[in-house]
Amino acid sequence: MLEFFEDIAKELQMVEKELSVVVETPNPLLTETSMHLLNAGGKRLRPALCLLGAKFYKFDLQRLLPLATALELIHMATLVHDDVVDASLTRRGNPTVKAMWGNKISTHIGSYLFGKSLILLARYETTPLISIALADTSVNMGEGEIQQIAASFDVKQNLKDYLYRINRKTAMLIASSTQLGAVACGAPKSIYYPLYRYGHGVGMAFQITDDILDMVADQRELGKPIGSDLRQGIITLPVIYALGSARQKDRLKELVAKHEKDEDEMQEAISIITGSGAIEHSFELVGKYIGKAKQALRELPDIPTRLTLNLAADFVGIRKY
Ligand code: IPE
Ligand code: IPE
Ligand code: MG
Ligand code: MG
Repeated sequence: MLEFFEDIAKELQMVEKELSVVVETPNPLLTETSMHLLNAGGKRLRPALCLLGAKFYKFDLQRLLPLATALELIHMATLVHDDVVDASLTRRGNPTVKAMWGNKISTHIGSYLFGKSLILLARYETTPLISIALADTSVNMGEGEIQQIAASFDVKQNLKDYLYRINRKTAMLIASSTQLGAVACGAPKSIYYPLYRYGHGVGMAFQITDDILDMVADQRELGKPIGSDLRQGIITLPVIYALGSARQKDRLKELVAKHEKDEDEMQEAISIITGSGAIEHSFELVGKYIGKAKQALRELPDIPTRLTLNLAADFVGIRKY
């Protein structure tokens, strides 16, 4: 568990319990595959943000548990599918479901986890905003991912295309997670709007650091493969910046647009990108989104949870995994 989530350690433990109860079925393969990903850990960022958001208004754990659990299930479903799409063999420091059981099983496990989240969300029929927001988020996640595939290897795309995509594929779920705990507990807009804006800032920063880490992280510490985006032609922020500013930008264009890069070409592309200052430049945008997230926090009641959320925002900027 991330240390700044200490205040909600007990509650997160209950989410953990709920997750294993929910994925348990009489079918051993379904249970085993889901438990494989669950047991590999993960930061549990989305359920934690959901619980923390609710601290600003009549926190009610029994009311929150199905929602917090559903948020992690939606996230897990997207990870299992994403590892098929990205052909990734490691996740959370362990072999992926794809690596262990292949694409067919992974496709169904992703849908199974998503379906389980829908069952939990059906409990909130008196608060339709919850299913509306998460349905909208899921639709947009699909759209962001499709846009990413459509734009792959296209060196003409710009910052706007990138921001559009990462908002949909990542930030919306984090923003919804942060907002919906408070919504579930009956909070008014004056509470849940700033929470959404905080989550949006954190979510945008989170995907940018993910994209930086894909280029410069220690693979063991990150727990998933690095270089995967560049190899697949996914053009992330450091690449966009370097394509605009690197001295060898023509060479970089050629390398980025090339399908099937060998190890030397990968290294060459990464060294042009890192040598261009694009990583530092990308961190500046991370800093701006974290600043926006913290700005939104100032509109919320001054309770200790504000400090926790400040720390969570800072973590996103310095994370190594
Ligand atoms: C990984 O999310 C997918 C992205 C949105 C970048 P996390 O980094 O939150 O994954 P876990 O749950 O901690 O493994
Ligand atoms: C996030 O993008 C994908 C999801 C929202 C599932 P990535 O493809 O960069 O995520 P990782 O790096 O595989 O975790
Ligand atoms: Mg991936
Ligand atoms: Mg990534």
